[in-house]
Amino acid sequence: MTPVVQLESVSRAFGRSRDAVAAVSDLDLAVPRGKFTTLLGPSGCGKTTTLRMIAGFVQPTSGRILLEGADATKTPPEKRNIGMVFQSYALFPHMTIIDNVAFGLRARGLAKTEVTARAGEALELVGLSALAGRKPGALSGGQQQRVALARAVAIRPSVLLLDEPLSNLDARLRVQMRAELRRVQRETGLTAILVTHDQDEALELSDHMVILNKGRLEQEGAPRDVFPRPASRFVADFLGYENFPVLPGHGPVAIRPEHVRLLSSGEPEDAGVTLEATVTNVTYQGSHCVVEVNANGLGDGTRLLCAHPGEAPRPGEAVRVLLPAAHLVTLGEDAEAAR
Ligand SMILES: Nc1ncnc2c1ncn2[C@@H]1O[C@H](COP(=O)(O)OP(=O)(O)OP(=O)(O)O)[C@@H](O)[C@H]1O
Ligand SMILES: [Mg+2]
Repeated sequence: MTPVVQLESVSRAFGRSRDAVAAVSDLDLAVPRGKFTTLLGPSGCGKTTTLRMIAGFVQPTSGRILLEGADATKTPPEKRNIGMVFQSYALFPHMTIIDNVAFGLRARGLAKTEVTARAGEALELVGLSALAGRKPGALSGGQQQRVALARAVAIRPSVLLLDEPLSNLDARLRVQMRAELRRVQRETGLTAILVTHDQDEALELSDHMVILNKGRLEQEGAPRDVFPRPASRFVADFLGYENFPVLPGHGPVAIRPEHVRLLSSGEPEDAGVTLEATVTNVTYQGSHCVVEVNANGLGDGTRLLCAHPGEAPRPGEAVRVLLPAAHLVTLGEDAEAAR
């Protein structure tokens, strides 16, 4: 099946040649039809620039953008049939909710009955039919974001672009709205691309996740494949791996604190690497303690964090630490370093 959106070696620089900033470098991307794709990465890694190039608001410095298999690099935004939802809701304050949702449909010159039907349908999809006659100012943040979503969906775009649409909402509402976004995408079968710097959001929503680092693609795949097997230190770090020891016979590896085990005396060892260590710090976290240890014999100050559910040892105590083989991830080079 032709990907809905394809980027072929797309780059974008800002500024004059001497001190130009490479916002996006040599990016290849194929966005699968009917799926939820997320662009994930730290601030400034080029997520918004990528989205704006797909929408047509920013031109690539080089490379091609294909929509539905056809070269659309030079196609103006209004000819791309793309729906967008931004971090700020960008609703028209003087218009009612239903008129906000209908705006894009009217702009496309659809017949009045068609406009009414589709706007009503979109509003129902986000559960806000009862508020159709209100103005945006009389809605909560979460409700306004739903209206923005309804407005983008109403035009039946070939791709829905979402730029951190949940980042203005408080933590609880954000989690609720994630589920809502996923439901709307599934029910409509839309192809969606969401930009976020929140790994939990990306893991929960994505069929396909794309991790960017300084404008370059660092790793992509299904969350279930990427999360347990980060390919580089950058990705591991970004996904919450906190331990990066260099182990004899393994080289540089990554392991999550919740996978590091403190062995009680006499406990048989599972397959893995066992280290003698000294506890240096303990922090209470409610459901567990984070025990910080110094691994003796691993060279200067190899610090390891262990999320320990039981009673924690005290600073200064000698412990044995197990790094189970099943959870040791061998790291490749970061995309940048590899070049
Ligand atoms: N119009 C512009 N003019 C100059 N530089 C720009 C412009 N837009 C983006 N940049 C630069 O390009 C880089 C990528 O920016 P972009 O907005 O794509 O990042 P982002 O990943 O969306 O970050 P954030 O998570 O903070 O929104 C940054 O260094 C930014 O300063
Ligand atoms: Mg951005």
